[in-house]
Amino acid sequence: MSANPLREGMRMSLVPGPGALVIFGASGDLSHRKLIPALYNLALRNLLPSSFQLVGVARTDYGGDDGYRAEVRKAIEQYSRTLPINETVFETFAQQTRYVSGSFDDEKLYEQLKKVLAEGDKSHGTAGNATFYLATPPTLFPLIATKLGEHGLSRSRAAVRRVVIEKPFGRDAASAAALDTVVRGAFKERQVFRIDHYLGKETVQNILVLRFANGIFEPVWNRNFIDHVQITVAESIGVEGRGRFYEEAGAMRDIIQNHLLQVLSFVAMEPPGSFDVESVRNERAKVLAALRPLTPNDVVRGQYDAGFGGGVAVPAYRDEDGVATDSMTETYVAARLSIDNWRWAETPFYIRTGKRLPKRVTEVAIQFKRVPHLPFSYAAAEQLEPNVLVLRIQPNEGIALRFGTKVPSSRTQIRTVNMDFDYDTAFAQAPAEAYETLLADAMRGDATNFIRIDMVEDAWRVVDPVLSAWTHEGGAPHPYAAGTWGPDAADDLLAREGRRWRRP
Ligand code: BG6
Repeated sequence: MSANPLREGMRMSLVPGPGALVIFGASGDLSHRKLIPALYNLALRNLLPSSFQLVGVARTDYGGDDGYRAEVRKAIEQYSRTLPINETVFETFAQQTRYVSGSFDDEKLYEQLKKVLAEGDKSHGTAGNATFYLATPPTLFPLIATKLGEHGLSRSRAAVRRVVIEKPFGRDAASAAALDTVVRGAFKERQVFRIDHYLGKETVQNILVLRFANGIFEPVWNRNFIDHVQITVAESIGVEGRGRFYEEAGAMRDIIQNHLLQVLSFVAMEPPGSFDVESVRNERAKVLAALRPLTPNDVVRGQYDAGFGGGVAVPAYRDEDGVATDSMTETYVAARLSIDNWRWAETPFYIRTGKRLPKRVTEVAIQFKRVPHLPFSYAAAEQLEPNVLVLRIQPNEGIALRFGTKVPSSRTQIRTVNMDFDYDTAFAQAPAEAYETLLADAMRGDATNFIRIDMVEDAWRVVDPVLSAWTHEGGAPHPYAAGTWGPDAADDLLAREGRRWRRP
């Protein structure tokens, strides 16, 4: 990295102190696609602890440590953002990797884990420190947390123990509180790292830098200048073999309650006094606490029908593996949110997410109010659109400002143009994967970009009334053809207030 002159002088992240990382659910999809490649890339960037051990825990029998190391290699070959594999780095990484197989309710598994960690302290100098990552189906979180407590693994007088818990944290406010009670039976809040990988994305973190390191945005970042905000998390993929999981989740629980509301909290928060962990989290939490709970009238849900994706015919959601043929699960949600505070009163935040939309794009569009008086003729300004600041979270990470400009000619003709900042061009380097950032943060004990329990509960409080209405009052999601921008009803949601969705 230091070879890149554009990054010269930049402060590199701190390397975590000695410790082990234990992944529960090590044979699963998340582990293969995200966690293992992220750890390998941290190793490549010299950002793993120098005294490190990785312990995979799962039911699958890979035939011992070497069998699991082969599996780890396959995952890197398939999913790493940097290839080919650097053999020297991989060799060390493999030597640091161990595997414990068994059933999560079996006491012997935890005793075996204890033994492996103790061996790691001796052979790899991990000093008794351990971070446990729960990457299993959520139904197993209470069991594993409880067992870690019962076997004395969750706390240590001389060492640091932490737990990272994947989303979704509960299914509603009540189950999140119940899960928290179980987790807190074994771990203290400061040991708990609730992960939402969107918070590890460079471009999400950059929202704070854009807002609080520059003088020009903050004065206009409020109801007086901003007409409304649109946040879009669009995916072109379908449920990708995760039908069974998705039937239980749906777009509201999978994206809106966590990723989308967390991004919104960055956009809407007040400037923190400092960048220490709790100052930042307090300001984000206040936004979530000020969000008005949604009602069914604020929300449109959709479900994709057969259509086209990437130029080929794709099946309807109801025809995907693991999905009920009469499923009512929503694969699309659009909603109008209100933030009840001084800065944002009467400034709507329109949010939407969906699977099988025309393209993968996550963006925040801040649409400013029009000028109070336009001293040009209607004909001259016909093509003038309001100013929009677009934060492109992914892909083509960057920031664009749309403004009106005179078309060069003898007449006055105004057209809206883009001023564009592009990460790739500016830094000549693709941003690191979110999981790399967050794994390193968790191992360092930096909770800034993790979610506190009050934030989880407030996010559920916002979506719960609608989830409950869908369950108890029936109704069905609006169908939309795969490869389109969702149901027409989503357009009506904005049209009734004289607005329309941006085409990203
Ligand atoms: C996950 C969801 O949390 O985020 C998936 O469970 C979704 O359904 C994914 O596809 C999107 O993440 P990203 O980083 O690809 O935008």
